[in-house]
Amino acid sequence: MSAEHPEIPWHVAIIMDGNGRWAKERGLPRRDGHRAGAESVREVADTCIELGIRYLTLYAFSSENWNRPPAEVEALMGLLDRFLIEKGADMKKRGIRLQTIGRTDLLPDKTRALIERITAETAGHAALTLVLALSYGAREEIVGAARSLAADAAAGRITPDDIDCRLFESRLQTAGLPDPDLLIRTSGEMRISNFLLWQISYAEIVIVRKNWPDFRRNDFIEAVREYQQRHRRFGAL
Ligand code: IPE
Ligand code: IPE
Ligand code: MG
Repeated sequence: MSAEHPEIPWHVAIIMDGNGRWAKERGLPRRDGHRAGAESVREVADTCIELGIRYLTLYAFSSENWNRPPAEVEALMGLLDRFLIEKGADMKKRGIRLQTIGRTDLLPDKTRALIERITAETAGHAALTLVLALSYGAREEIVGAARSLAADAAAGRITPDDIDCRLFESRLQTAGLPDPDLLIRTSGEMRISNFLLWQISYAEIVIVRKNWPDFRRNDFIEAVREYQQRHRRFGAL
């Protein structure tokens, strides 16, 4: 990726955090926070198209989120299904291409089928690539890449000396996607929580205090403005 500062980030990645706290503050069940968060997803995706951002990666469910109570996991999967059913047709209309990263094989059959159908139906679209990270964990992803290279080496298809950053990247689930330029996390937490560890090496990080359901068009534009004021150096001058 070019070290030149782009006006508009090419790829924005978001850790959508704080749905539970948003609900708690209002005396509502956590599920309602997740539901309200789905509206922020729609608004941020629309704003990406408006600004000319080409890739949006959203951390929707981490590999560690399976450790939440079964009722919450079920509610999240139900909301994901609803989002895919409601937005699938819309994505087609708006030129959004859907992709996923993560262990989608662990998702319920119905969810997986929806993802496969919408991914295939939107494959030719170009306005915005929406990457949903589902059952995603960066460490697992990196281990998967190492395993695939080790298998190739054991079979004699490559030698250890063939392994460089480019080859390694080609075995990550994000192969073919540019690295995020801007990483946003809502709810004020200053941690990465196993998200895109390899890919965010030189991303600009913007932490926003608002919880995800309160993060809307203007908040997103403000985060992009903050990004535009940064001086990216990539280790050089
Ligand atoms: C983010 O909100 C959504 C997911 C992780 C699925 P949380 O559910 O983590 O909300 P908080 O952090 O408990 O407020
Ligand atoms: C990160 O949020 C995962 C998603 C936003 C999907 P978490 O709420 O799971 O992260 P921690 O537990 O605060 O680190
Ligand atoms: Mg959280």
